[in-house]
Amino acid sequence: MSVTPVLEADVLRRQDPELADILLGELDRQSTTLQLVAAENFTSTAVLAALGSPLANKYAEGYPSTRYHGGCEMVDVAERLAVERAKALFGAEHANVQAHSGSSAVLAAYAALLRPGDTVLAMGLHFGGHLTHGSPANFSGRWFDFVGYGVEAESGLIDREQVRTLARTRRPKAIVCGSISYPRHLDYAFFREVADEVGAFLIADAAHPIGLVAGGAAPNPVPYADIVCATTHKVLRGPRGGMLLCGSELAERVDRAVFPFTQGGAQMHSIAAKAVAFGEAATPAFTGYAHQVVANARVLAEGLAREGLGVVTGGTDTHLLAVDPAPLGVDGRTARGRLAAAGIVLDCCALPHGDARGLRLGTAALTTQGMGEAEMTHLAGLFARALRDGGDGKRTREEVRDLAGRFPPYPR
Ligand SMILES: Cc1ncc(COP(=O)(O)O)c(C=O)c1O
Repeated sequence: MSVTPVLEADVLRRQDPELADILLGELDRQSTTLQLVAAENFTSTAVLAALGSPLANKYAEGYPSTRYHGGCEMVDVAERLAVERAKALFGAEHANVQAHSGSSAVLAAYAALLRPGDTVLAMGLHFGGHLTHGSPANFSGRWFDFVGYGVEAESGLIDREQVRTLARTRRPKAIVCGSISYPRHLDYAFFREVADEVGAFLIADAAHPIGLVAGGAAPNPVPYADIVCATTHKVLRGPRGGMLLCGSELAERVDRAVFPFTQGGAQMHSIAAKAVAFGEAATPAFTGYAHQVVANARVLAEGLAREGLGVVTGGTDTHLLAVDPAPLGVDGRTARGRLAAAGIVLDCCALPHGDARGLRLGTAALTTQGMGEAEMTHLAGLFARALRDGGDGKRTREEVRDLAGRFPPYPR
């Protein structure tokens, strides 16, 4: 079995069989279980090839043509290509593709627009805000004064009145819209309107939906937000990493906030892999993929609801769902364990109201494998059976293995 050029060349196996076994063991795990972690996907072998390329050797502090290191001729071309492709893909005047991760992109956005102590309005962590949206365990909660908005108890939808009221009373310097588990499209025009009313910057943390945006399956925050932060590894299907998009007027502030303010040398292999992913995301095939991701998530949501699980907001517009397993008599943590035993891999998440933990799942990886609506309906049944079986359902594990085996993520 071969995935990366390194394994293909068998170099790693000969030089470091111990590590080669770990990589192949992980490939086996990914191929024989179902990946429903909403933040994950399977990159193409072209993306993996760029990641495993000699660009990994190159130091390149600074930006194309203004590097602190010699020998940047080729990596400059790679970074310009990534930037141009990102700008074209999202209709942005400026793109920074150096952020090492989604969190680094958010840090850079704050660094570009805020000063320590500033007030920021973002989705509360309990409702689906990310750590970088004010967790006391994160730099954001330590350095800024975060105010959290939530969702309506009945509908699970963002509580617009609360957003407006908190903005008016707390006068934040920035408003952040974006979440780790909110399954619905965000109304960026609404957030822009509130931000304008109180003179705040609008930061869209589109880490999750950005791949759907690329494929035309979700609204684009670029025309509304001052800065869009994103990851490149979720639905977008690129390497693990981050990026920022903004208008020309903030370009210099954003670039300086990434380097030299919060990062050192750019990771050129990763930037090259981002360029590959942006190129792939600009194809009609990716547009079809993004819409299939959403169609699959909707069918999965319907199937899980039919099986008796609670589905937050009653469904989804995106790749992700938040579900409550309590109606089947299991709490979130137990449910995750039972599903893992059956080979269904996902995360726990906070549920909007009360203390119970729910489950967060996404369809990006399964859709890359080629699964469609029929498989989602089948999966909903396996999912519910794994929860009811108490985790020792051997038959469910075998059926999951069989389903995964019919859709190998990489050519064997
Ligand atoms: C909304 C949001 N912001 C930021 C991040 C951070 O991304 P990373 O894990 O690459 O730092 C995530 C990751 O899941 C996210 O969902």
